[in-house]
Amino acid sequence: MAQDLDSVINLHDFEAMARRRLPRMAFDFIQGGADDELGLRQNRQAFERWRLLPRFLVDVSQRDTSVSLFGQRYSAPVGISPMGLAGLFRPGADAMMAQAAREQQVPYLMSGASNESLETAARLAPEHAWFQLYRTLDDKINDHLLGRVRDAGLRVLVVTVDVTVNSNRERNRRNGFVRPFRLSPSILLQCLLHPRWTLDYLRQGGHPMMQNWQPYAAPGASADQVADLFGQLTPASNSTWKTLEHIRRQWPGKLLVKGLLHPDDARQAVTLGADGLIVSNHGARQLDRSVSPLEMLPEIHAAVPQTPLILDSGMRRGSDIVIARCLGAHMVFCGRPMMYAVASAGQPGVSRAITLLRLEVDKVLAQLGCARFDDLSAEHLRPAN
Ligand SMILES: Cc1cc2nc3c(=O)[nH]c(=O)nc-3n(C[C@H](O)[C@H](O)[C@H](O)COP(=O)(O)O)c2cc1C
Repeated sequence: MAQDLDSVINLHDFEAMARRRLPRMAFDFIQGGADDELGLRQNRQAFERWRLLPRFLVDVSQRDTSVSLFGQRYSAPVGISPMGLAGLFRPGADAMMAQAAREQQVPYLMSGASNESLETAARLAPEHAWFQLYRTLDDKINDHLLGRVRDAGLRVLVVTVDVTVNSNRERNRRNGFVRPFRLSPSILLQCLLHPRWTLDYLRQGGHPMMQNWQPYAAPGASADQVADLFGQLTPASNSTWKTLEHIRRQWPGKLLVKGLLHPDDARQAVTLGADGLIVSNHGARQLDRSVSPLEMLPEIHAAVPQTPLILDSGMRRGSDIVIARCLGAHMVFCGRPMMYAVASAGQPGVSRAITLLRLEVDKVLAQLGCARFDDLSAEHLRPAN
């Protein structure tokens, strides 16, 4: 493992490692987008449209990549995006991401569709774990879950609003990676070709439990039955601004909304009491022809200039993080590369991924003549021709 990690020199390497370790249906589940997957490319192109403009003969011998957000100092402007079903890719993956985040002093946003419980995340990373809520069709469950997040002592709640329906992920359909799950000859072959993953999967007893949802299922319900319940209760397509108002009344901590892309929606969320926004298009996994979050960032920043903004979707390099900062983001979260890292190399892999991003940001700051991440501005940026 240590040998492997020394040879990982950027985030792309984790993708290649995960591709080797995971059966195709599992790798495709992580990598895939919706429909024609145009959004995946566009999320990358949005970053490539910008060039950095360096200044020289500035003392950059002491540099600072840290950021303060919601009353806490983080070592780098990087966080782990919420990703469901992580335990399928490596048993205990949610806990590994939480521990790596704590070790590296960055936020870990536990998915509302995680395998391990929010109480576990709170125990493992009390200062660094945040929780992402998928509202359900059952208000009693919604309120109960919020109470659990509060009782666990988590301080930041993120409501994801961009899953109004389950999206069209054609890779999953072609691979037979859909519910109800059936073992086909081609899936069996993929499993045989990836024996280390298959052994882990079998050792943990097949599909891992969605522990946050277990209490709402019948006593003794299997992992499959709990996943079915989650599938029946979500997505809550009837959510409205009133839902957000209700959550705001119930939740005393910091409240963020993830997935808004229109500046007017951003303004409305802040008016209703949101403390921050995660500007995201779900990593192009929902609406394939959606605008890229980076494209909308300047308008959203102009609409809510006092509100902390976190960007995700498509970031793969420290220079991407710097570009996002110049356009108004305070921090950038990372999805797929973190899942590839945990799937291929566990907690040390996630730690390594975060370290790589921090080192890349640090190097770009020096090259730009800007010693502090917080001092980056639109002055450091020009549009590409
Ligand atoms: C495997 C996987 C599962 C995801 N599950 C969730 C989820 O449960 N909740 C959520 O808000 N977003 C979820 N997302 C979206 C991520 O939080 C994030 O917005 C996206 O991955 C960022 O784009 P990137 O992968 O290009 O970094 C998921 C993404 C992936 C890849």
